[in-house]
Amino acid sequence: LRSVDGLLEVQLEAAPGPAEIGGRTLTVLAYNEGLPGPTLRLRPGDRLRVRLRNGLAEPTNLHVHGLHVSPEGNSDNPFVMIEPGDAFDYDYRLPRDHPAGLFWYHPHHHGQVADQIFGGLYGAIVIDDSAPLPVARERVLVISDITPGGAGGVASASPAERMRGREGRLVLVNGQLKPGIGIRPGERERWQIVNACVSRYLRLSLDGHGMQLLGLDAARFETPRDVEEVLLAPGNRADLLVTAATGTPGPPATLRALPYDRGSMGMGGMMGGSPSSTATVDLATVTVAGEPVAAASAVPRQPAPRDLRGVAVTARRELAFAMGMGMGGGGGMSFTINGDSFDGDRVDTTVQTGSVEEWLLSNSSPMDHPVHLHVWPMQLIEDNGRAAQTVQWRDVVNVPAGGTVRVRIAFDDFPGRTVYHCHILDHEDFGMMGVIEAR
Ligand code: C2O
Ligand code: CU
Ligand code: CU
Repeated sequence: LRSVDGLLEVQLEAAPGPAEIGGRTLTVLAYNEGLPGPTLRLRPGDRLRVRLRNGLAEPTNLHVHGLHVSPEGNSDNPFVMIEPGDAFDYDYRLPRDHPAGLFWYHPHHHGQVADQIFGGLYGAIVIDDSAPLPVARERVLVISDITPGGAGGVASASPAERMRGREGRLVLVNGQLKPGIGIRPGERERWQIVNACVSRYLRLSLDGHGMQLLGLDAARFETPRDVEEVLLAPGNRADLLVTAATGTPGPPATLRALPYDRGSMGMGGMMGGSPSSTATVDLATVTVAGEPVAAASAVPRQPAPRDLRGVAVTARRELAFAMGMGMGGGGGMSFTINGDSFDGDRVDTTVQTGSVEEWLLSNSSPMDHPVHLHVWPMQLIEDNGRAAQTVQWRDVVNVPAGGTVRVRIAFDDFPGRTVYHCHILDHEDFGMMGVIEAR
C-alpha cells in the first residue's frame, strides 16, 4: 500500500484467522488476515491515516516503531486503548526531513504486547528514498517467531518462558517457514530486515555471497560496510546489500541466525534458567540461477549523520534496568527501571524539548535487555565502557547482561508523553517500562 499525493489511508483489522505455516493451518492473530500485515509505503513529509478495528477478544492499539512523529492525541500515542469491537483513527504526520528506511507497526497494549505480537500482529513500514538505490530488487524481510499450540492455535508461554522472554519454535520470514529467494549471478539486492520476534536475537549470516550494511534502524552509514554477520536485538532493523557470487552457481546458500547468548535468569538454572537464542536457525534459502548480470554501480555517498558527541549536554541521568525477587507481576520476579515497575499514570522522566541529554543505561541482571525509546533515536556513545568509534544511531540499544551503555538523545521536537522499555516484550509486559514527558 503506497501513499498517493502525500497521503496513505488504510483500514487495518486485528483479528484471529487462519495462516498456513509449514504445511499446516494455524489460527493466528493477524492484520487484514495477512502474516505479516500489509507493508505501508510512504515518503518523508507524508501523512498516514490508519483506522484500526479491534476484532480481538481483548484490548489492543497501534504503535509505529521508530517513526519520528508526535506521541500525542491520535498520533503515536501508546496510551490509547481500543476495546474489542471498537475502532480508532490514527493520524501520523511525518516531518519533511524524516529519514528513509524500514520501520514497523505492532500493538502496544501493556500486558498483552508479547502475546499479540507472538500471535502474529506486526507489519512493515517503508519510507522510500528520494532516489532509488542502484539495486536490481528491494525486499522487505519481516522475521518473527511463533510456536504452534495444542488446539490449532498459537501456544501460550509458561511463566518461566515469559520471565526469560519467550522464543518461538518456528522462525518465519514474511510469515513463511524457510522460503526460497532467487537471484542471478552478480546481481545486487537490497534487503530491509526487521526483527519482529518477541525475545529472540538474530545474529544473521549468509554464506557464499557478499553482504554490506547500509545502515541500522533509521540511520544510514555514509558508505556501505562489508559485514560477515549482523546482530539484531528484538525491534532492530538492518538495511543490507546482498550481492550474489559470480561464476558457476554452487549449491543454494542459507540465510541463518547464528547462536547468540543473551544470558539466562541466573539462579543456578532454576525457573527455566537455560540460555536462549543458542541454536543455529535456517531462515531462508538463496538460490543463484540464470544469466549473470554486470556489476551494479556504486551506492551514492549518504549525507554525514548528525553527531552529538561534541555538543553540550543539558542533563545526564541513569536508567537502571533490574530483575529481582519482588512483588512485581513476574510471578515472584520483578522487572524494574530505577526500582519502579510501569505505571501509566506516573511520569518517570521529564525532559525539555530542544535539549540534548546523556543517559547511562545500566543492567544489573544476568541477561541482556534491549532498550527502546519511542519517538527519539539514541546515539551510541559508549558500549560497556568502550567509546563508540563511529556515529551510530539506534531505536533499540542492547544493554548486555551486567553491562552499561551510554547514549545521547536530542529532544528536538514533539512535546508529549510516551514510553521507553525493554523490547523483550515479555519483560515490557512485566513492567520494565517507564513514562517520559517532553515539555
Ligand atoms: Cu517496538 Cu514500544 O515498541
Ligand atoms: Cu517503538
Ligand atoms: Cu528485558
